[in-house]
Amino acid sequence: MIKRPVIIDCDPGVDDTLAICLAASHPELDIRAINPVAGNVGYESTSQNALRLADLIGIDCRVGRGAEEPLIAPCRTAGAVHGQGGLGGYQLPEAHRDFDVDYAWDILVQEARRAEGALEVIALGPMTNLAIALTRYPELKKLIRKITVMAGSADQGNTNVYAEFNVWVDPHACEIVFQSGIPIAMCGLDGNDSCSMNTEEINGIFQRPCRLSDVIGHVSHFIHQRNTEQWHLPSSTIHDLVTMACFIDPSIATYEPCYVTCETRSSISAGQTVVDLYHVSGKKPNVDVLRRADKERFLQMLREMMDWYTQH
Ligand code: BDR
Ligand code: CA
Repeated sequence: MIKRPVIIDCDPGVDDTLAICLAASHPELDIRAINPVAGNVGYESTSQNALRLADLIGIDCRVGRGAEEPLIAPCRTAGAVHGQGGLGGYQLPEAHRDFDVDYAWDILVQEARRAEGALEVIALGPMTNLAIALTRYPELKKLIRKITVMAGSADQGNTNVYAEFNVWVDPHACEIVFQSGIPIAMCGLDGNDSCSMNTEEINGIFQRPCRLSDVIGHVSHFIHQRNTEQWHLPSSTIHDLVTMACFIDPSIATYEPCYVTCETRSSISAGQTVVDLYHVSGKKPNVDVLRRADKERFLQMLREMMDWYTQH
């Protein structure tokens, strides 16, 4: 089997956790590293969660040392959204391994060279690690095959009126990544919403017994309870999970190539991904923007993930 080399950049995070579980149930992925970054909660927690998750799931990969704060913007987190420790109060067992000696950005360039142009990156948190890597190692622009990001929106935001959280945390990093010339797939809030799940779907899929049912059951329940009881939403879009599914099987996703830039200055809409959906700027598209994903096939991927962890 020809494997796809990939680095997962993330800020776990309840939905990052489910996305990592999904990735690890796909043996065609060669997960070279998990690189944590500060985001949903402080770096101390996101990095420990990444290390412990890799250990618990049994992912044989490097876990890098990532950025503890954004490039320029102040360090802001979303502890209330992700609960205590970032995993809705779930305590992962201590890891039996340590962080890699190298930083995330050095791991990125090392693995990109090793993969000789085949490396893909999926970013599920603020893009600080990626922006540092691209600034420090300009050769990366030619070495990374594609970057898939859970970022932004072609519509409204979830953090200010127009900004999605990951981009809002580090808009300067987003702009560096989007202007890098590397092929980008952006799975934003509005596109991901096509795979929003109701209570029956969430419980039917995630409450099944399997090797990881403790953690999967806990974080999925936490997300859905927060969305429905606290925020009074009718269903839950698990953004990082939808993004990971679109990364694993791009045939479930419908993208529109657009010119996208990131607002870094405005006091009202800092962190907005300004998506030229109607091509009015005349500028060459630099980002494939997710418009929708096939929900039935997405749900099927999740059922298969649960089957995988009953057998492995
Ligand atoms: C994104 O922000 C974080 O809270 C989630 O982990 C996801 O990556 C959604 O806006
Ligand atoms: Ca995330």
